[in-house]
Amino acid sequence: MTTHQPATSAANETKAILEVADVTKTYGEGHTQVTAIANASLQVQQGQFVSLLGPSGSGKTTLISMIGGLLTPTSGTIRLGNEVISSMSKKELTRLRAERVGFVFQSSNLVPFLTARENLLYVASLPKNHDRKAAAKRADNLLAELGLSERANNVPEKLSGGERQRVAIGRALMNDPDLVLVDEPTAALDTALGRQVVELLAREVKQRGKTGIMVTHDLRMVEYTDEVFEILDGKLTKSTGNAALAVH
Ligand SMILES: Nc1ncnc2c1ncn2[C@@H]1O[C@H](COP(=O)(O)OP(=O)(O)OP(=O)(O)O)[C@@H](O)[C@H]1O
Ligand SMILES: [Mg+2]
Repeated sequence: MTTHQPATSAANETKAILEVADVTKTYGEGHTQVTAIANASLQVQQGQFVSLLGPSGSGKTTLISMIGGLLTPTSGTIRLGNEVISSMSKKELTRLRAERVGFVFQSSNLVPFLTARENLLYVASLPKNHDRKAAAKRADNLLAELGLSERANNVPEKLSGGERQRVAIGRALMNDPDLVLVDEPTAALDTALGRQVVELLAREVKQRGKTGIMVTHDLRMVEYTDEVFEILDGKLTKSTGNAALAVH
């Protein structure tokens, strides 16, 4: 890393909230072994929304799964604030995910027998969100912002692919996470709606001082993010604007 670290007490204010240092992830063993991520390092500041670009199979989901505490790195360290995610036990990771991470998966992973609104409120049944009235208000506000008020009482089967993804985004924001990780949010959205949803994500990150990472194939979405990281065959690099625009 070439980031300058000031040696004064002001360093605490500029210290990255999220730091991935020399992280490698290998799946399998022997001749079937795959190195999905090789020596990746990145830093993201609080309030920053960054994008992660790369072709299919390059390691994007693997990387954000480790950052979100769903997968443990084979080597290297991942730190969120004062917590070292990469050395946590399963129990600690479960707590971390419930309290600090909002994850929007590639497939929306909604609970099929709950309505859109209930899918959001389900998160609110976690201990941190015991105030039911406030949770209901937050769910309704999020559903409205995501253009889903009219769909709030539909189960996922009765929603379009894009609507399901928007419900998943609402659900990821319900627990007011420090870290928002989004895997391909625009895949099932048309352009106008895709922009709206990514704008909403960018706004949440900025206004609430969160940290966001968005995996995307869609270069048009990159303009909503502060920085672009590119990943190719498990190798992560920070992109200059030009390099990102060169990807088609
Ligand atoms: N559980 C697993 N076991 C073995 N190999 C895996 C596993 N998960 C992913 N891989 C491999 O690791 C590499 C990176 O996969 P990953 O899912 O992170 O890619 P990706 O960039 O998210 O791709 P896509 O854009 O298609 O979602 C691929 O070669 C993939 O086949
Ligand atoms: Mg993926």
